[in-house]
Amino acid sequence: MVEQVRPLADEIEAAVQAALETTLGADLASEDPLVRRSDHADYQANVALSLARRLGRNPRELAGQLRTALVTESWMTSVEVSGPGFLNISVTDAAILGRLAARLADPRLGVPRTQAGQTAVIDYSGPNVAKEMHVGHLRSTLIGDALARVLGFLGAQVVRQNHVGDWGTQFGMLIQYLFEHPEAAWRNKDVQAETASAVSALDALYRTARKEFDASPAFKERAQRRVVALQAGDEETVAAWEEIVAESEEAFQQVYERLGVLLTLDDIKGESFYNPWLHDVVDELRDKGILEESDGAKVVFFDDIRGPEDKPVPMLVQKSDGGFGYAATDLATIRHSIKELHGTRLIYIVDARQSQHFQMVFRTARRAGWLTDATEAVHAANGTINGPDGRPFKTRAGGTVRLADLLDDAVRRAREVVAEKDPDLAPDDLDAIAHLAGIGAVKYAELSTSRTKDYSFDVTRMVSFNGQTGVYLQYTHTRIASILRKADEAGTGRGHFAPDLALEPAERALGLALDEFGATLDAVATTLEPHQLAGYLYGLAKAFTTFYESCPVLKEGVSADVRGNRLALCELTRATLAQGLHLLGIAAPQRM
Ligand code: ARG
Repeated sequence: MVEQVRPLADEIEAAVQAALETTLGADLASEDPLVRRSDHADYQANVALSLARRLGRNPRELAGQLRTALVTESWMTSVEVSGPGFLNISVTDAAILGRLAARLADPRLGVPRTQAGQTAVIDYSGPNVAKEMHVGHLRSTLIGDALARVLGFLGAQVVRQNHVGDWGTQFGMLIQYLFEHPEAAWRNKDVQAETASAVSALDALYRTARKEFDASPAFKERAQRRVVALQAGDEETVAAWEEIVAESEEAFQQVYERLGVLLTLDDIKGESFYNPWLHDVVDELRDKGILEESDGAKVVFFDDIRGPEDKPVPMLVQKSDGGFGYAATDLATIRHSIKELHGTRLIYIVDARQSQHFQMVFRTARRAGWLTDATEAVHAANGTINGPDGRPFKTRAGGTVRLADLLDDAVRRAREVVAEKDPDLAPDDLDAIAHLAGIGAVKYAELSTSRTKDYSFDVTRMVSFNGQTGVYLQYTHTRIASILRKADEAGTGRGHFAPDLALEPAERALGLALDEFGATLDAVATTLEPHQLAGYLYGLAKAFTTFYESCPVLKEGVSADVRGNRLALCELTRATLAQGLHLLGIAAPQRM
């Protein structure tokens, strides 16, 4: 059993805090030492600057005092005051090597379970039944998958909730149209052949039904009666609804499997799942005096959520006809996640355009007493994916772009670049690699962008072997795997860290990067931003490339100690890349 490894940055923090205590007293010992990586030393601590301002002292002088307290640390090789009052700190090679050895010996790479005891309820993906999954659902699906993996790896209990849109008045319309036009059946093989899939057929049917709904008051009325029948549990109507839902959910599942995300059919907790509780939710809010009447509807008002002309914007909980909307359902989701799932952290990964909705839901849940300080509710908002031209993503005909088509495109382009790089690949291997490179490229492009930012879906850039792409990271992984294979073939063994060795600058830089994996994962858990991990892995791959260019591993003339140490660096880099990619849901192949 290897216990967790304390990163150097933490060790330095602790030392600076101890120095703060000896120089300034115990009440400043918990000050954040502001330790960062530095270009001029291994690390820098910036605390003297911020603290001096607060204490009205000279920052350089304060830094000097801290320096005097720190120079006794034998594992530090230099502590210097620089600039206006930075403390530049470098550590011994042995301090780095000792940590790397402990990480290599541990299957978890020394990463502690910092999220143990947390229950994270993650609401993500949320596609809509009878509609094609589109590029908008891609973001939530991939970000949610990465966060589920990272939080799970850090020891949180993760509950995945796929809030599929499977309920509402639109189903009355759809089912009514289906009953009136049996020839338009989406199960009809001819219709499916024309539209690429049963769900596409449903999607098309939905749009036709919508047209009739808008054009014909008589149809509109029949559709509305059909909704009532659905809600009342009319057998024939419910059967049609169930069939449509099942067909769509199977199609979503196919996309999830292709993407390699963790979601399963069991994770679906669609809008209909919360149906039985909607009346309770309304009653409870009414009893607690939170609901108000407005034009016959039941709504919640907020003092500071206001629209044009400073008019308060209400959240619509129950319509005047008794129907429930999206907000009522989400009030039920938050109540359920707290009371039944005992979530300590509720994460809704949904389009930024729904931020007011979630603000209202969270506030209402707080007023109702469901949401307390024991639980954190977050809307992890995500931006929009635009087309390659930076404009809203549309097909040439102006329609929404099908997710499946985008993935096809990415895999095809990946196939081209892989085939070009390695023309000797057998067709089966090429197919397999094209799949994991194409899907990995899409995922990495998504996950290397801050989730709140908009970005352009540019397949050509995504599948490049150069630059910050999934393909580059996968390729780096294969290069290291190949070095290790060669070492195996040459009988050199996997190597191990040699604690007394003097390290080259590129070895130190790589070693320091490897030591930061766990802290990076913690940052992802705090900010719910997988791009921090994506960026870290890119930095790691670059550090490896620099190392490998200047530090031969298997070449003749390299001493056994140095070679063993370099092989251990290779192996730890490979393992860290593989684990990191895995946490992003990206495959780390042995060859490509
Ligand atoms: N179905 C919704 C949409 O397509 C997303 C659901 C998000 N989750 C939630 N609990 N509201 O916009």
